[in-house]
Amino acid sequence: MSTVVLVGAQWGDEGKGKVTDYLAQQADLVVRYQGGNNAGHTIIVDQTTLQLHLIPSGILYKDKLCVIGNGVVIDPEVFFEELENLNKMGITGENLRVSDIAHLIMPYHKLLDAFEEDKRGEMKLGTTKRGVGPAYVDKYARRGIRIGDLFEPDLFREKLRRALEYHNFILTGIYGAKPLKQSEIEDKYLAYGERFKKYVQDTSLLIYEAVKSDKNVLFEGAQGTLLDIDHGTYPYVTCSQPVSGGAATGAGIGPNYIDKIVGVAKAYTTRVGEGPFPTELTDEIGDYIREKGHEFGTTTGRPRRCGWLDGVVLKYAARINGLTSIAITKLDVLSSLPVVKICTGYKLDGKYIENFPHNLGELLRCEPVYEELPGWEEDIGGARKIEDLPPNAQRYVRRIQEITGLKISLIAVGPAREQTIPLEDVF
Ligand code: GDP
Ligand code: IMO
Ligand code: MG
Repeated sequence: MSTVVLVGAQWGDEGKGKVTDYLAQQADLVVRYQGGNNAGHTIIVDQTTLQLHLIPSGILYKDKLCVIGNGVVIDPEVFFEELENLNKMGITGENLRVSDIAHLIMPYHKLLDAFEEDKRGEMKLGTTKRGVGPAYVDKYARRGIRIGDLFEPDLFREKLRRALEYHNFILTGIYGAKPLKQSEIEDKYLAYGERFKKYVQDTSLLIYEAVKSDKNVLFEGAQGTLLDIDHGTYPYVTCSQPVSGGAATGAGIGPNYIDKIVGVAKAYTTRVGEGPFPTELTDEIGDYIREKGHEFGTTTGRPRRCGWLDGVVLKYAARINGLTSIAITKLDVLSSLPVVKICTGYKLDGKYIENFPHNLGELLRCEPVYEELPGWEEDIGGARKIEDLPPNAQRYVRRIQEITGLKISLIAVGPAREQTIPLEDVF
């Protein structure tokens, strides 16, 4: 029995939802450990499409526990709306557990996310405006409100009073907005508290006990390595720690309980929002990938920027996360291209480098150095084993293996659960 952390190896939207849903077949617990409803994870099973923002992608299995860990920030409105939508599909959510110490996204966080973005002007980050960043800021400013606080009404009222005193000053003074009313937020959130009661517990203990009794635990990352607050392309990042280390703190388990770390990577690269992207294609190949791969944001509907696979990024993700294998998704999207390219290094100020630079200015000056491989014509959506792939597609996958030095655990050749080629046991 083992524990597996699944992380995005690029800038998010790598297909983590699909891979989580696939691997969850073997899991007993599926745990989200960071981020909030800035995430958008798509699962397609039996022609039904499910878009999850907050609830873990294991929710389709009634016999698996789905846990929202302490590192996640929770917008109660989104949580209950997502749950109601699942209820309509016959998914009860009885198997859902939520950490008592997860922080709440409050109405002022959503307002601030939008106002701060507007104020940044040309330096905007392209956030999802879901209040995720400001909620993490309050957590670290020790001004945050946690789910457990909703069960102590007097404490909650006092915490909210203090938070509003601060945020109304900012909202009215800096942004010229109307102040928020304590009574309106108070009643709404205390009512959410009542509804939360049946889901909330010490999830760190729950996960520990599952690990100790030899259960399979799958940690589902949101966002991706290059969006990590420390290791991503700062400041064009999210406010949490999507990297594998974040699973330990965000779920409340010791790092020694993590057995395997799978990085999910698209067979090409995408990014939504602003920030550096060395292999971005602004030509017709980029447009082709966007159309064929339906590269439009699950959360905001924004067109995703598309580009060639970046081997420098993948090697960086392998190192920062300690990846033990890689899952490649959307290989089918590259079919019909006469030539496919992989970036193996960057040219920076006349020098060839193979390590991802931290410095934003340097990264913006990096030019990708490509290796060209022959493409393949065939539609590969029906492939179920590696031999079903055309030789050039197999060669492309082998090259990713060589560049990253990692085993490939699976290849996804379409969005549906069964459109998967398993190569290595993950659990
Ligand atoms: P996540 O945020 O990492 O879970 O990824 P998203 O769900 O935001 O974006 C991935 C998109 O690609 C979704 O629409 C998936 O249904 C789709 N997808 C996942 N794997 C594959 C694949 O192998 N091939 C194709 N064509 N689509 C895929
Ligand atoms: P999943 O889990 C792709 C991006 C936003 C923006 C930056 C900061 O679906 O892979 P935020 O709202 O987090 O403060 O925005 O991060 N971003 C994502 N991009 N996939 C995601 O999640 C993302 N979550 C945030 O576009 O550039
Ligand atoms: Mg997504």
